[in-house]
Amino acid sequence: MNILVTGGVGYIGSHTSVELLNNGHDVIIIDNLSNSKRETVGKIEQITQKKITFYQGDVTDKQALAKIFQAHHIDGVIHFAGLKAVGESVDKPLLYYQNNLISTMALAEACLTYEVKQFVFSSSATVYGDQTSPMHETMPLLSTTNPYGETKAMSERILQDVIKKHRKLSIVLLRYFNPVGAHSSGLLGEDPSGIPNNLVPYITKVAKGELEKLFVYGNDYDTVDGTGVRDYIHVVDLAKGHVAALEKLKSGLEIYNLGTGKGTSVLEMIEAFEAVNGISIPYQITERRPGDIATCYADVSKIKDQLGWSATLKVEDMLRDAWQFERQL
Ligand code: NAD
Ligand code: UFG
Repeated sequence: MNILVTGGVGYIGSHTSVELLNNGHDVIIIDNLSNSKRETVGKIEQITQKKITFYQGDVTDKQALAKIFQAHHIDGVIHFAGLKAVGESVDKPLLYYQNNLISTMALAEACLTYEVKQFVFSSSATVYGDQTSPMHETMPLLSTTNPYGETKAMSERILQDVIKKHRKLSIVLLRYFNPVGAHSSGLLGEDPSGIPNNLVPYITKVAKGELEKLFVYGNDYDTVDGTGVRDYIHVVDLAKGHVAALEKLKSGLEIYNLGTGKGTSVLEMIEAFEAVNGISIPYQITERRPGDIATCYADVSKIKDQLGWSATLKVEDMLRDAWQFERQL
């Protein structure tokens, strides 16, 4: 299949492009490089020994999309392009609504115009809000604590309405839990600019000596050791989940969680990092971070039963690969 990957130069998009190419699909990427680097395209090609067609452009630009859909017969799209920093979304709400909603609508419209059959959307476990884990796809969408999360919930609702009218399109909403880790080649990974907001990129910066210590946001949650529990998933497992979703897409709209089904606390993550990489991570317990919940992990039975996909890599693999990527930056 010819797959258009929006945001394909980014963290998850680059890993998914590798898995698509490895599974015999052709990949066309559109990315405005607002949060990624052009050289990643060459790295995807280096890993797979296959060529990609790359367009530097914005998914909110309908003319740029029309040019691509006219130049290629697109069988399916995977829509990763979006802004994702929770804190920034509170500071710049209009930027987030503009970028994340207009891109989804422009892409859906292009799919209808050019009769593309398959649409896969990057959603987030954040749409579940503060409900009791494991999170199941049938749970209601609760209001999220920030504009970023709202763009995901709104995009889901927009696509739910599109499918009611346009039955020839197949849509999959993939709700990611906490993607971490890097490609085993060490060529692809997550390299956020500035001080990382997320746990694993922060830990690897501490390991490298670029940050002095980790601040653990609260140890008084109702969890195994009082620190926050999340469902960390290796980005390569996550990428493979997209290929499974695309290849087995049925008509209509389906929602799948992409997680491991297992929760790990912040302190367990620190211990696992130290054990697998042999580097100690100094840390200090501080106040809870506003908007955080105690526990979030997935019920993964639906995707296993229906698509035969499940995560295979462990927290130790995630932390080893994340460190291998960080140390060569
Ligand atoms: P990323 O920032 O690494 O990748 C996103 C890519 O999209 C970047 O290369 C960026 O340059 C590009 N982009 C942004 N807006 C664009 C636009 N309007 N037009 C063209 N390109 C644009 O982020 P990621 O971690 O790879 O996330 C991919 C998707 O998955 C996002 O939609 C994100 O919200 C979602 N998601 C990520 C996580 C996570 O923890 N990483 C969790 C849940 C959901
Ligand atoms: N944490 C710390 N110190 C840090 C960073 C994080 O203690 O420096 C803790 C958090 O309090 C939380 C856990 O580590 O308990 C994980 O935090 P992350 O920021 O790595 O991830 P979140 O679960 O908060 O959020 C992530 C994405 C969101 C997405 C959400 C659900 O960043 O975009 O998962 O998918 F919405």
